[in-house]
Formats: sequence, C-alpha cells, structure tokens
Amino acid sequence: MSSATDRGDDEVAVGPFAPTDLPEVAAFVAAQQADPTKHIAYLGTETDGIAAELAALEPRGLEAVLVARREVEIVGVLAADWSDDPPRVWWFGPFVASRETFDAVADALLGAGRALLPAGVTQEEFAVDRRNEAVAAFARRHGFEPGEGSSALLATDLAGERLTSSVGGDQDDPRDVRVEPLDDRTRAAVAALHDRLFPGTHTPGDRLDREPDRVVLAATRDGAVLGYVAAERQEDGAGYVDFLGVDEPARRQGIGRQLVVAACQRLRDDLGCTMAHLTVRESNVAARRLYTSIGFLEERVLHPWSRGFRLD
Ligand SMILES: CC(C)(COP(=O)(O)OP(=O)(O)OC[C@H]1O[C@@H](n2cnc3c(N)ncnc32)[C@H](O)[C@@H]1OP(=O)(O)O)[C@@H](O)C(=O)NCCC(=O)NCCS
Repeated sequence: MSSATDRGDDEVAVGPFAPTDLPEVAAFVAAQQADPTKHIAYLGTETDGIAAELAALEPRGLEAVLVARREVEIVGVLAADWSDDPPRVWWFGPFVASRETFDAVADALLGAGRALLPAGVTQEEFAVDRRNEAVAAFARRHGFEPGEGSSALLATDLAGERLTSSVGGDQDDPRDVRVEPLDDRTRAAVAALHDRLFPGTHTPGDRLDREPDRVVLAATRDGAVLGYVAAERQEDGAGYVDFLGVDEPARRQGIGRQLVVAACQRLRDDLGCTMAHLTVRESNVAARRLYTSIGFLEERVLHPWSRGFRLD
C-alpha cells in the first residue's frame, strides 16, 4: 500500500518499509524524539529501544509503521498499536522532520495509517509532549479532543539510595503488611480493586498479570488485600510502573510507597531494568508526591488526545 501527496514540487510517498531499513527509520524517530517540540509519548529516545518498540507493536509489528519519503529521504513516520478490546488504536507520531511540510506529510501518514486498521477499531488515542504544538494543532484539525495532562516521571537509577533505603525503613515498611506476587488467594481481590480504581482502562483487572515480563504485587494484611502495583519491563529494557492502587481505608500508611519500591526492586533484580518510568495525572498530587519522595524526577508533561471516545 502506498499513497502520495503533492506539495509544490515535492512529492512525498507514504508506505511500509523494508525491515532492513529499520535502523534508518528508528534513527529518524530518535532524532525527532530528542526535540521536545516534536516528542511523542511512550516511545523512548534511544534508537535501539525505539527499533525494539516498533518491532513489538500489536498486532502487526513493523507492518504498522508507515514511512513518508521524498525520493529516498525519510521525512515522516507514523506507527500504530491497536487492540480489539477496547477497539482502539494508539498512534505513535506523526513524526515529521520539517515544519513547512508538516500538515501535508502528517495527513498523508494518518490516512495511510487508518487504512491499516480493522473496521471495528473506531477509537484513536495518542499523547505528546506539551511543547509539541505542531501535533496538537494536527490533533485539533482532525477532531481529536484533549484530555488531562500527565506528568512523566523517571527514576534513572533503580539501585539508587532512596529507592533502596526506603525499604526496611521503619516509617515506610509497615511490618504487618506483606508485599508479594499475586496468587490464588489475592488475584480476584486485586482485580476488583483495580477495576474499581481504574474503570475502563486499557488493561482490565483479570488481565493484569497475564503478560510476560510483568511484576504484579499485592499488599496484604492478615490475608486481606489492601493495595497492588503493576509494572513491566518494556521492549527497550526500561521498567514501567503501570498501575498503583491502595484501598481507601488503608491509605497514608506507607503502603503505596512500599509497593512502588518493591516493584522497582523486582524490575531491577528479576527483570534487569536499570531505570523505570511512569506517568501520573497532573492533578494526582498524592501519587506525584509519593513518586518524587522515593527519587522519581519529572521529565516532561504529556498531553493526551482522543477521538471516538472520551478520556476521563
Ligand atoms: C496514590 C496512592 C496509591 C497512595 O497510596 P498510599 O498508600 O496512601 O501512599 P503512602 O501512604 O505510601 O504515601 C507516601 C507519600 O505520598 C504522599 N501522599 C500520599 N497520599 C497523599 C495525599 N492524599 N495527599 C498528599 N500527599 C500524599 C505523601 O508524600 C506520602 O508520604 P507521607 O505520608 O510521609 O507524607 C493512593 O492514594 C491511591 O490508590 N490513589 C488512587 C489510585 C491512584 O491515583 N494511583 C496512582 C496513579 S497510577
């Protein structure tokens, strides 16, 4: 499949690419990612990591990566990751090298990307650095609606002083609370707590610990589930803390902090991650304080956009 767009004398062709061109495509994306005014959420900044993420796109891998070229030069990239439940595509991009041709190239990429989707996938979502004004304008022009901003936080050293010393400290390690991987006694209660705290999110409670390379831990007291954390090792090797929840009556006892620290330790020890990142709503002061109190630093603010459904 291929399409072309005319803009003055320049003809841009959009289509899939040969897998042997992956290093070139990933290097192009990495160059855009390094610029905050072009940055797209959730794809990292390192060429190798981006190549791994693109190859792992669900369900089509590199077939869902579209490249815009003017003659042989790459001028734009858009990648798609989609699911049937929810029937949603997550766009990575559009990455466009030049401001002058942004609209034409981005529109051609989006048109070609939508043509890849199964008919039932009607919801679209992506998130960008808040400094990426070109993609924000593109989103508005295509009928996307903005959601609430999120803070992207990063812990660059999972063996670092604060993350390790928090565990075992008197204040943050309530001795009667156990933090352990899910088992048959805790799985259903964790799923119910997750579905109550994060209704309608991309991973429902009964699927929390189904994927490989995931860390899902439950905090219990006398066998009762009080909280949980879900994290994963991503394709680029970084850890990602996906969900954290503590039952209302058990809050402000250090359980959330204990869960995150334990998850980071497992990301490091069991899955070989040296760093971890996460996103949290800007308005979620409690969680932001928790994460920064154990050494996470704010890297950027991300703005999500949706079409065909509302982000809540
Ligand atoms: C965010 C959440 C997990 C915190 O769990 P918790 O067990 O209450 O947190 P902790 O007791 O470990 O708190 C650790 C630190 O976080 C900060 N914090 C936690 N709750 C806070 C609140 N309501 N207001 C301000 N700061 C808060 C504090 O700095 C606290 O340290 P301190 O008690 O020594 O002052 C819990 O409020 C929750 O489940 N919220 C709903 C789900 C959610 O927002 N998850 C995070 C996004 S993925």
